[in-house]
Amino acid sequence: MDLFEYQAKQLFAAHGVPVGLGEVADTPEQAREIAERIGGVVVVKAQVKTGGRGKAGGVKVAKTPAEAAEAARAILGMDIKGHTVHRVLVDPGAQIEEEYYFSFLLDRSNRTFLAMASAEGGMEIEQLAVERPDALAKVPVDATEGVDVAKAREILTQANFPADVLDESAELVAKLWDVFVQQDATLVEINPLARVSGGSGATVLALDGKVSLDENADFRQAGNADLEDVAAADPLEAKAKEKHLNYVKLDGEVGIIGNGAGLVMSTLDVVAYAGESRGGVKPANFLDIGGGASAEVMANGLDIILGDPAVKSVFVNVFGGITSCDAVANGIVTALGMLGAAATKPLVVRLDGNNVEEGRRILTEAAHPLVTLADTMDDGAAKAAQLASDAIQGA
Ligand SMILES: Nc1ncnc2c1ncn2[C@@H]1O[C@H](COP(=O)(O)OP(=O)(O)OP(=O)(O)O)[C@@H](O)[C@H]1O
Ligand SMILES: [Mg+2]
Repeated sequence: MDLFEYQAKQLFAAHGVPVGLGEVADTPEQAREIAERIGGVVVVKAQVKTGGRGKAGGVKVAKTPAEAAEAARAILGMDIKGHTVHRVLVDPGAQIEEEYYFSFLLDRSNRTFLAMASAEGGMEIEQLAVERPDALAKVPVDATEGVDVAKAREILTQANFPADVLDESAELVAKLWDVFVQQDATLVEINPLARVSGGSGATVLALDGKVSLDENADFRQAGNADLEDVAAADPLEAKAKEKHLNYVKLDGEVGIIGNGAGLVMSTLDVVAYAGESRGGVKPANFLDIGGGASAEVMANGLDIILGDPAVKSVFVNVFGGITSCDAVANGIVTALGMLGAAATKPLVVRLDGNNVEEGRRILTEAAHPLVTLADTMDDGAAKAAQLASDAIQGA
Protein backbone atom coordinates (compact mmCIF):
# COMPACT_ATOMS: atom_id res chain seq x y z
CA MET A 1 0.00 0.00 0.00
CA ASP A 2 1.43 3.34 -1.09
CA LEU A 3 0.87 6.37 1.12
CA PHE A 4 0.28 9.97 0.21
CA GLU A 5 3.13 12.38 0.92
CA TYR A 6 1.33 13.88 3.91
CA GLN A 7 0.74 10.44 5.43
CA ALA A 8 4.36 9.49 4.84
CA LYS A 9 5.58 12.64 6.54
CA GLN A 10 3.15 12.13 9.43
CA LEU A 11 4.73 8.70 9.99
CA PHE A 12 8.20 10.23 9.74
CA ALA A 13 7.27 12.87 12.31
CA ALA A 14 5.84 10.24 14.66
CA HIS A 15 9.24 8.54 14.67
CA GLY A 16 11.17 11.74 15.22
CA VAL A 17 12.35 12.29 11.64
CA PRO A 18 12.39 16.08 11.08
CA VAL A 19 9.91 17.07 8.37
CA GLY A 20 8.50 20.18 6.79
CA LEU A 21 4.84 19.41 7.41
CA GLY A 22 1.75 21.58 7.42
CA GLU A 23 -1.84 20.52 6.94
CA VAL A 24 -4.05 19.03 4.26
CA ALA A 25 -6.81 20.95 2.48
CA ASP A 26 -9.47 19.92 0.01
CA THR A 27 -10.74 23.41 -0.77
CA PRO A 28 -8.95 26.68 -1.63
CA GLU A 29 -10.56 28.30 1.41
CA GLN A 30 -9.04 25.68 3.73
CA ALA A 31 -5.67 26.19 2.06
CA ARG A 32 -5.96 29.91 2.78
CA GLU A 33 -6.73 29.25 6.45
CA ILE A 34 -3.80 26.87 6.84
CA ALA A 35 -1.45 29.36 5.17
CA GLU A 36 -2.68 32.00 7.63
CA ARG A 37 -1.97 29.71 10.58
CA ILE A 38 1.50 28.85 9.27
CA GLY A 39 2.33 32.46 8.41
CA GLY A 40 4.92 33.48 5.81
CA VAL A 41 5.72 31.59 2.64
CA VAL A 42 4.03 28.24 2.11
CA VAL A 43 4.27 25.54 -0.53
CA VAL A 44 1.02 24.04 -1.87
CA LYS A 45 1.50 20.45 -3.02
CA ALA A 46 -0.76 18.08 -4.93
CA GLN A 47 -1.39 14.85 -3.01
CA VAL A 48 -1.40 12.07 -5.59
CA LYS A 49 0.30 8.71 -5.54
CA THR A 50 2.55 9.28 -8.51
CA GLY A 51 5.91 10.91 -9.11
CA GLY A 52 6.81 14.10 -10.95
CA ARG A 53 4.23 16.32 -9.28
CA GLY A 54 6.55 19.31 -9.34
CA LYS A 55 7.16 19.02 -13.07
CA ALA A 56 3.42 18.69 -13.71
CA GLY A 57 2.74 22.00 -11.96
CA GLY A 58 1.46 20.34 -8.82
CA VAL A 59 3.86 22.09 -6.43
CA LYS A 60 3.50 25.86 -6.06
CA VAL A 61 5.06 28.44 -3.78
CA ALA A 62 2.67 30.98 -2.24
CA LYS A 63 3.79 34.14 -0.48
CA THR A 64 0.43 35.08 1.03
CA PRO A 65 -2.71 33.24 2.17
CA ALA A 66 -4.52 34.62 -0.89
CA GLU A 67 -1.83 33.17 -3.14
CA ALA A 68 -2.13 29.84 -1.30
CA ALA A 69 -5.86 29.77 -2.05
CA GLU A 70 -5.10 30.61 -5.67
CA ALA A 71 -2.49 27.84 -5.90
CA ALA A 72 -4.89 25.34 -4.33
CA ARG A 73 -7.59 26.38 -6.82
CA ALA A 74 -5.17 25.69 -9.68
CA ILE A 75 -3.94 22.35 -8.31
CA LEU A 76 -7.18 20.81 -6.98
CA GLY A 77 -8.84 18.81 -9.74
CA MET A 78 -5.64 18.76 -11.77
CA ASP A 79 -4.85 15.50 -13.54
CA ILE A 80 -1.34 14.24 -12.91
CA LYS A 81 -0.55 11.14 -14.96
CA GLY A 82 -4.14 9.98 -14.69
CA HIS A 83 -4.45 10.75 -10.97
CA THR A 84 -6.96 13.44 -10.07
CA VAL A 85 -5.87 15.75 -7.27
CA HIS A 86 -8.45 15.74 -4.48
CA ARG A 87 -6.28 17.28 -1.76
CA VAL A 88 -3.34 19.55 -1.36
CA LEU A 89 -0.77 19.70 1.40
CA VAL A 90 0.06 23.21 2.57
CA ASP A 91 3.58 23.10 3.99
CA PRO A 92 5.72 25.80 5.53
CA GLY A 93 8.09 27.12 2.86
CA ALA A 94 11.70 26.16 3.44
CA GLN A 95 14.79 28.05 2.34
CA ILE A 96 16.64 25.28 0.57
CA GLU A 97 20.43 25.34 0.42
CA GLU A 98 20.99 21.85 -0.93
CA GLU A 99 18.89 18.83 -1.87
CA TYR A 100 19.91 15.25 -1.06
CA TYR A 101 18.31 11.86 -1.60
CA PHE A 102 17.80 8.99 0.81
CA SER A 103 15.79 5.75 0.78
CA PHE A 104 15.52 2.33 2.37
CA LEU A 105 13.88 -0.37 0.34
CA LEU A 106 13.38 -4.07 0.07
CA ASP A 107 15.71 -5.23 -2.70
CA ARG A 108 13.88 -8.36 -3.76
CA SER A 109 16.30 -9.46 -6.46
CA ASN A 110 19.24 -9.42 -4.05
CA ARG A 111 17.18 -10.65 -1.10
CA THR A 112 18.28 -7.86 1.15
CA PHE A 113 17.35 -4.42 2.41
CA LEU A 114 19.08 -1.62 0.59
CA ALA A 115 19.98 1.93 1.50
CA MET A 116 20.29 4.37 -1.39
CA ALA A 117 21.72 7.80 -0.82
CA SER A 118 23.02 10.71 -2.83
CA ALA A 119 24.26 14.19 -2.10
CA GLU A 120 22.63 15.12 -5.41
CA GLY A 121 18.93 14.84 -4.72
CA GLY A 122 15.92 16.70 -6.04
CA MET A 123 15.95 15.28 -9.53
CA GLU A 124 14.37 11.97 -10.38
CA ILE A 125 16.42 9.21 -8.88
CA GLU A 126 15.93 6.88 -11.86
CA GLN A 127 17.56 9.55 -14.01
CA LEU A 128 20.42 10.03 -11.58
CA ALA A 129 20.98 6.28 -11.42
CA VAL A 130 21.33 6.18 -15.21
CA GLU A 131 23.25 9.39 -15.83
CA ARG A 132 25.49 9.57 -12.78
CA PRO A 133 25.60 6.11 -11.19
CA ASP A 134 28.67 7.06 -9.15
CA ALA A 135 26.69 9.77 -7.39
CA LEU A 136 24.24 7.23 -5.98
CA ALA A 137 25.51 5.06 -3.12
CA LYS A 138 23.80 1.69 -2.77
CA VAL A 139 24.54 -0.04 0.50
CA PRO A 140 22.98 -3.40 1.47
CA VAL A 141 21.59 -3.50 5.00
CA ASP A 142 21.63 -6.70 6.99
CA ALA A 143 18.15 -7.27 8.41
CA THR A 144 19.47 -8.54 11.73
CA GLU A 145 21.99 -5.74 12.19
CA GLY A 146 19.83 -2.87 11.01
CA VAL A 147 20.95 0.74 10.88
CA ASP A 148 22.24 2.66 13.88
CA VAL A 149 23.79 6.12 13.79
CA ALA A 150 27.24 4.67 13.05
CA LYS A 151 25.99 2.63 10.10
CA ALA A 152 24.02 5.65 8.88
CA ARG A 153 27.22 7.74 8.94
CA GLU A 154 28.96 5.08 6.89
CA ILE A 155 26.22 5.13 4.24
CA LEU A 156 26.12 8.93 4.10
CA THR A 157 29.91 9.15 3.85
CA GLN A 158 29.81 6.81 0.90
CA ALA A 159 27.16 9.08 -0.66
CA ASN A 160 29.43 12.14 -0.27
CA PHE A 161 27.17 14.01 2.14
CA PRO A 162 28.94 17.21 3.25
CA ALA A 163 30.85 16.77 6.53
CA ASP A 164 28.99 19.53 8.33
CA VAL A 165 25.59 17.87 7.93
CA LEU A 166 26.81 14.32 8.51
CA ASP A 167 25.95 14.01 12.20
CA GLU A 168 22.50 15.50 11.91
CA SER A 169 21.72 13.49 8.77
CA ALA A 170 22.93 10.25 10.39
CA GLU A 171 20.54 10.79 13.32
CA LEU A 172 17.73 11.34 10.84
CA VAL A 173 18.61 8.24 8.83
CA ALA A 174 18.72 6.03 11.94
CA LYS A 175 15.20 7.22 12.77
CA LEU A 176 14.10 6.62 9.21
CA TRP A 177 15.26 3.02 9.62
CA ASP A 178 12.95 2.79 12.66
CA VAL A 179 10.07 3.92 10.45
CA PHE A 180 11.01 1.29 7.87
CA VAL A 181 11.16 -1.58 10.37
CA GLN A 182 8.44 -0.61 12.83
CA GLN A 183 5.86 0.17 10.16
CA ASP A 184 6.69 -2.91 8.06
CA ALA A 185 7.49 -0.75 5.05
CA THR A 186 8.96 -1.95 1.78
CA LEU A 187 10.04 1.58 0.86
CA VAL A 188 10.74 4.81 2.71
CA GLU A 189 12.10 7.57 0.53
CA ILE A 190 13.01 11.21 1.05
CA ASN A 191 13.57 13.30 -2.08
CA PRO A 192 14.50 15.97 -1.39
CA LEU A 193 16.14 15.56 1.96
CA ALA A 194 16.92 19.26 2.21
CA ARG A 195 19.52 21.31 3.95
CA VAL A 196 17.71 24.49 4.88
CA SER A 197 18.67 27.82 6.35
CA GLY A 198 16.81 30.53 8.18
CA GLY A 199 14.60 28.31 10.32
CA SER A 200 14.97 27.86 14.05
CA GLY A 201 14.67 24.06 13.96
CA ALA A 202 16.53 21.32 12.14
CA THR A 203 18.87 22.20 9.29
CA VAL A 204 18.29 18.87 7.51
CA LEU A 205 14.71 17.77 6.97
CA ALA A 206 12.39 15.76 4.78
CA LEU A 207 10.51 18.03 2.37
CA ASP A 208 8.98 15.12 0.50
CA GLY A 209 8.15 11.60 1.59
CA LYS A 210 7.22 8.36 -0.08
CA VAL A 211 6.26 5.24 1.86
CA SER A 212 5.01 1.83 0.75
CA LEU A 213 3.69 -0.43 3.48
CA ASP A 214 3.66 -4.20 3.27
CA GLU A 215 0.00 -5.23 3.29
CA ASN A 216 1.03 -8.71 4.44
CA ALA A 217 1.74 -7.08 7.79
CA ASP A 218 -1.72 -5.53 8.13
CA PHE A 219 -2.59 -8.10 10.79
CA ARG A 220 -0.06 -6.58 13.18
CA GLN A 221 -0.29 -2.99 12.01
CA ALA A 222 -3.58 -1.80 13.43
CA GLY A 223 -2.92 1.70 12.10
CA ASN A 224 -2.78 0.56 8.48
CA ALA A 225 -6.57 0.42 8.19
CA ASP A 226 -6.85 4.17 8.83
CA LEU A 227 -4.16 4.96 6.31
CA GLU A 228 -5.98 2.85 3.77
CA ASP A 229 -9.36 4.54 4.26
CA VAL A 230 -7.90 7.93 3.63
CA ALA A 231 -5.84 6.58 0.77
CA ALA A 232 -8.90 5.25 -1.02
CA ALA A 233 -9.32 8.71 -2.51
CA ASP A 234 -8.49 7.43 -5.99
CA PRO A 235 -12.04 6.66 -7.09
CA LEU A 236 -11.06 3.90 -9.52
CA GLU A 237 -8.94 2.00 -7.00
CA ALA A 238 -11.63 2.46 -4.34
CA LYS A 239 -14.27 1.13 -6.70
CA ALA A 240 -12.07 -1.82 -7.68
CA LYS A 241 -11.51 -2.64 -4.03
CA GLU A 242 -15.23 -2.55 -3.39
CA LYS A 243 -15.74 -5.09 -6.20
CA HIS A 244 -12.86 -7.22 -4.87
CA LEU A 245 -10.86 -6.73 -8.06
CA ASN A 246 -7.12 -6.98 -8.11
CA TYR A 247 -6.54 -3.58 -9.78
CA VAL A 248 -3.57 -1.27 -9.78
CA LYS A 249 -3.64 2.05 -11.64
CA LEU A 250 -0.61 2.74 -13.81
CA ASP A 251 0.44 5.74 -15.85
CA GLY A 252 -0.29 4.64 -19.44
CA GLU A 253 -3.12 4.60 -21.98
CA VAL A 254 -3.75 0.92 -22.77
CA GLY A 255 -6.20 -0.70 -20.34
CA ILE A 256 -5.33 -4.30 -19.50
CA ILE A 257 -7.54 -7.17 -18.37
CA GLY A 258 -6.20 -10.67 -17.96
CA ASN A 259 -6.66 -13.74 -15.82
CA GLY A 260 -3.86 -14.81 -13.53
CA ALA A 261 -1.23 -12.46 -12.12
CA GLY A 262 1.55 -13.99 -14.21
CA LEU A 263 -0.33 -13.58 -17.47
CA VAL A 264 -1.27 -10.00 -16.60
CA MET A 265 2.32 -9.15 -15.69
CA SER A 266 3.62 -10.49 -18.99
CA THR A 267 0.82 -8.69 -20.82
CA LEU A 268 2.05 -5.43 -19.28
CA ASP A 269 5.54 -6.17 -20.58
CA VAL A 270 4.37 -7.04 -24.08
CA VAL A 271 2.15 -3.94 -24.31
CA ALA A 272 4.93 -1.69 -23.01
CA TYR A 273 7.24 -3.14 -25.66
CA ALA A 274 4.66 -2.78 -28.44
CA GLY A 275 4.01 0.78 -27.32
CA GLU A 276 7.65 1.82 -27.68
CA SER A 277 7.35 1.99 -31.45
CA ARG A 278 3.76 3.31 -31.32
CA GLY A 279 3.90 6.76 -29.84
CA GLY A 280 5.31 5.51 -26.54
CA VAL A 281 1.94 4.36 -25.19
CA LYS A 282 2.05 2.25 -22.02
CA PRO A 283 -0.22 0.00 -19.94
CA ALA A 284 -2.82 1.98 -17.98
CA ASN A 285 -3.38 -0.55 -15.25
CA PHE A 286 -2.91 -4.01 -13.84
CA LEU A 287 -6.16 -5.96 -13.57
CA ASP A 288 -6.31 -9.65 -12.80
CA ILE A 289 -9.87 -10.97 -12.98
CA GLY A 290 -8.72 -14.31 -11.62
CA GLY A 291 -9.43 -17.89 -12.53
CA GLY A 292 -13.21 -18.05 -12.38
CA ALA A 293 -14.04 -14.91 -14.29
CA SER A 294 -17.81 -14.56 -14.63
CA ALA A 295 -19.60 -12.12 -16.90
CA GLU A 296 -20.18 -9.95 -13.88
CA VAL A 297 -16.49 -9.85 -13.00
CA MET A 298 -15.67 -8.99 -16.62
CA ALA A 299 -18.30 -6.24 -16.58
CA ASN A 300 -16.94 -4.81 -13.34
CA GLY A 301 -13.41 -4.91 -14.72
CA LEU A 302 -14.37 -3.24 -17.99
CA ASP A 303 -16.45 -0.67 -16.15
CA ILE A 304 -13.48 0.37 -14.03
CA ILE A 305 -11.02 0.47 -16.90
CA LEU A 306 -13.37 2.37 -19.21
CA GLY A 307 -13.98 4.81 -16.36
CA ASP A 308 -10.34 5.85 -16.48
CA PRO A 309 -10.11 8.93 -18.72
CA ALA A 310 -6.47 8.13 -19.51
CA VAL A 311 -7.43 4.84 -21.18
CA LYS A 312 -7.61 4.99 -25.00
CA SER A 313 -7.87 1.29 -25.81
CA VAL A 314 -8.27 -1.96 -23.88
CA PHE A 315 -6.48 -5.26 -24.31
CA VAL A 316 -8.33 -8.28 -22.91
CA ASN A 317 -5.89 -11.18 -22.74
CA VAL A 318 -7.44 -14.35 -21.36
CA PHE A 319 -6.25 -17.90 -21.18
CA GLY A 320 -9.26 -20.15 -20.75
CA GLY A 321 -8.86 -22.67 -17.97
CA ILE A 322 -11.44 -23.38 -15.31
CA THR A 323 -13.45 -20.63 -16.90
CA SER A 324 -13.50 -21.56 -20.56
CA CYS A 325 -13.10 -19.10 -23.44
CA ASP A 326 -16.79 -19.28 -24.38
CA ALA A 327 -17.74 -18.19 -20.86
CA VAL A 328 -15.27 -15.33 -21.10
CA ALA A 329 -16.59 -14.35 -24.55
CA ASN A 330 -20.15 -14.37 -23.24
CA GLY A 331 -18.89 -12.31 -20.32
CA ILE A 332 -17.46 -9.71 -22.69
CA VAL A 333 -20.64 -9.55 -24.78
CA THR A 334 -22.83 -9.30 -21.67
CA ALA A 335 -20.50 -6.72 -20.14
CA LEU A 336 -20.66 -4.54 -23.25
CA GLY A 337 -24.44 -4.88 -23.20
CA MET A 338 -24.58 -3.87 -19.54
CA LEU A 339 -22.30 -0.91 -20.12
CA GLY A 340 -24.18 0.21 -23.23
CA ALA A 341 -23.24 3.74 -24.23
CA ALA A 342 -20.68 3.89 -21.40
CA ALA A 343 -18.43 1.64 -23.48
CA THR A 344 -16.73 3.96 -25.92
CA LYS A 345 -13.17 2.70 -26.33
CA PRO A 346 -11.90 -0.01 -28.68
CA LEU A 347 -11.31 -3.45 -27.22
CA VAL A 348 -8.77 -5.94 -28.51
CA VAL A 349 -9.49 -9.48 -27.34
CA ARG A 350 -7.10 -12.39 -27.44
CA LEU A 351 -8.45 -15.72 -26.26
CA ASP A 352 -6.61 -18.97 -25.97
CA GLY A 353 -6.98 -22.25 -24.13
CA ASN A 354 -10.09 -24.17 -23.14
CA ASN A 355 -12.87 -23.89 -25.77
CA VAL A 356 -11.13 -21.14 -27.72
CA GLU A 357 -12.98 -21.78 -31.00
CA GLU A 358 -16.37 -21.40 -29.39
CA GLY A 359 -15.21 -18.25 -27.64
CA ARG A 360 -14.03 -16.70 -30.88
CA ARG A 361 -17.24 -17.69 -32.63
CA ILE A 362 -19.33 -15.94 -29.98
CA LEU A 363 -17.36 -12.73 -30.34
CA THR A 364 -17.35 -12.88 -34.15
CA GLU A 365 -21.10 -13.40 -34.23
CA ALA A 366 -21.77 -10.63 -31.77
CA ALA A 367 -19.80 -8.36 -34.13
CA HIS A 368 -19.64 -5.57 -31.60
CA PRO A 369 -18.22 -2.51 -33.39
CA LEU A 370 -15.70 -1.84 -30.62
CA VAL A 371 -14.25 -5.35 -30.49
CA THR A 372 -11.28 -6.61 -32.54
CA LEU A 373 -9.99 -10.16 -32.20
CA ALA A 374 -6.29 -10.93 -32.06
CA ASP A 375 -4.63 -14.26 -32.75
CA THR A 376 -1.68 -14.00 -30.44
CA MET A 377 -0.60 -12.01 -27.42
CA ASP A 378 1.97 -10.06 -29.48
CA ASP A 379 -0.62 -9.34 -32.15
CA GLY A 380 -3.14 -8.19 -29.55
CA ALA A 381 -0.62 -5.97 -27.79
CA ALA A 382 0.40 -4.39 -31.11
CA LYS A 383 -3.22 -3.75 -32.10
CA ALA A 384 -4.18 -2.29 -28.73
CA ALA A 385 -1.07 -0.07 -28.63
CA GLN A 386 -1.75 1.13 -32.19
CA LEU A 387 -5.38 1.97 -31.36
CA ALA A 388 -4.31 3.94 -28.28
CA SER A 389 -1.64 5.75 -30.26
CA ASP A 390 -4.12 6.58 -33.06
CA ALA A 391 -6.65 7.89 -30.52
CA ILE A 392 -4.01 10.19 -29.05
CA GLN A 393 -2.88 11.40 -32.49
CA GLY A 394 -6.48 11.99 -33.55
CA ALA A 395 -7.31 13.89 -30.37
N1 LIG B 1 8.30 23.02 1.86
C1 LIG B 1 9.02 23.37 0.79
N2 LIG B 1 9.68 24.55 0.77
C2 LIG B 1 10.38 24.93 -0.31
N3 LIG B 1 10.52 24.20 -1.42
C3 LIG B 1 9.89 23.03 -1.47
C4 LIG B 1 9.11 22.54 -0.38
N4 LIG B 1 8.60 21.35 -0.73
C5 LIG B 1 9.07 21.09 -1.98
N5 LIG B 1 9.85 22.10 -2.42
C6 LIG B 1 10.51 22.15 -3.73
O1 LIG B 1 9.74 21.56 -4.72
C7 LIG B 1 10.42 20.46 -5.32
C8 LIG B 1 9.44 19.37 -5.63
O2 LIG B 1 8.79 18.95 -4.46
P1 LIG B 1 8.60 17.42 -4.14
O3 LIG B 1 9.89 16.71 -4.13
O4 LIG B 1 7.80 17.32 -2.91
O5 LIG B 1 7.71 16.96 -5.34
P2 LIG B 1 8.18 16.13 -6.63
O6 LIG B 1 9.47 15.48 -6.38
O7 LIG B 1 8.03 16.94 -7.84
O8 LIG B 1 7.10 15.15 -6.68
P3 LIG B 1 7.34 13.62 -6.65
O9 LIG B 1 8.04 13.34 -5.38
O10 LIG B 1 5.94 13.17 -6.72
O11 LIG B 1 8.18 13.31 -7.87
C9 LIG B 1 11.47 20.05 -4.30
O12 LIG B 1 12.56 19.44 -4.92
C10 LIG B 1 11.82 21.36 -3.67
O13 LIG B 1 12.80 22.02 -4.44
MG1 LIG C 1 10.19 14.63 -4.60
